Amino acid sequence: MSSRDYNVESDRQKGVEEFYRTQHINQTYNFVKRMREDYGKLNRVEMSIWDCCELLNEFVDESDPDLDEPQIEHLLQTAEAIRKDYPNEDWLHLTGLIHDLGKVLLHPDFGELPQWAVVGDTFPVGCAFDESVVHHKYFQENPDYNNPSYNTKFGVYSEGCGLNNVMMSFGHDDYMYLVAKENKTTLPSAGLFIIRYHSFYALHRADAYKHLMSEEDIENLKWLKIFNKYDLYSKSKVRIDVEKVKPYYLSLIEKYFPEKLRW
Ligand SMILES: [Fe+2]
Ligand SMILES: [Fe+2]
Repeated sequence: MSSRDYNVESDRQKGVEEFYRTQHINQTYNFVKRMREDYGKLNRVEMSIWDCCELLNEFVDESDPDLDEPQIEHLLQTAEAIRKDYPNEDWLHLTGLIHDLGKVLLHPDFGELPQWAVVGDTFPVGCAFDESVVHHKYFQENPDYNNPSYNTKFGVYSEGCGLNNVMMSFGHDDYMYLVAKENKTTLPSAGLFIIRYHSFYALHRADAYKHLMSEEDIENLKWLKIFNKYDLYSKSKVRIDVEKVKPYYLSLIEKYFPEKLRW
């Protein structure tokens, strides 16, 4: 590695740390509550799932630190890789296609939210932040860290209450879950679980927060672990012929979603 590469790498590292510092300070219980109430109204835009894929593709490339390729490629790579290995699970193909659509929160029509309120690893708020959450030390600057209502193992929750009853840091995962649910998708609960928790690395990587999970969560987690391999793996350079696969995905969208959704 040349010294120049080294500097690029350490600058990137600093950028990532700064990102997580800001995220960890600002994602409080009250912030999440406010955002879910506001964005849960779904009164901003009306469009189809495919319209959203195209909208995301147009603008998000540069602003998204996760990816250095067009979003639609990532979405279709994920979906197509899953389709190859699980040909009969069409709901999982569609989940692959739509899992990142919540990144439209970065768009001016959605209030152009800052990166820390849209991307990055997610975690529960309202209870103690688990040590396994990336850059855990920055939580010390989060006001909830010293709030006795929110800083114990269970916080405002109870044993086995189910992740459904746990508030997660706000971002593209939780937002897309709200959109899918409120627009009455017929995706199975494992699909909604994947959409909602795909950035919850403390759960699917470190097996933390087990004490809040229900039986159904434990079942759904199996699918999330399968999905996550494709989410990461597909960030490689497999080119996809969008026009060729589009009819298949339009048929899935029609099967599981209304024609127009409220966002
Ligand atoms: Fe994502
Ligand atoms: Fe993704």
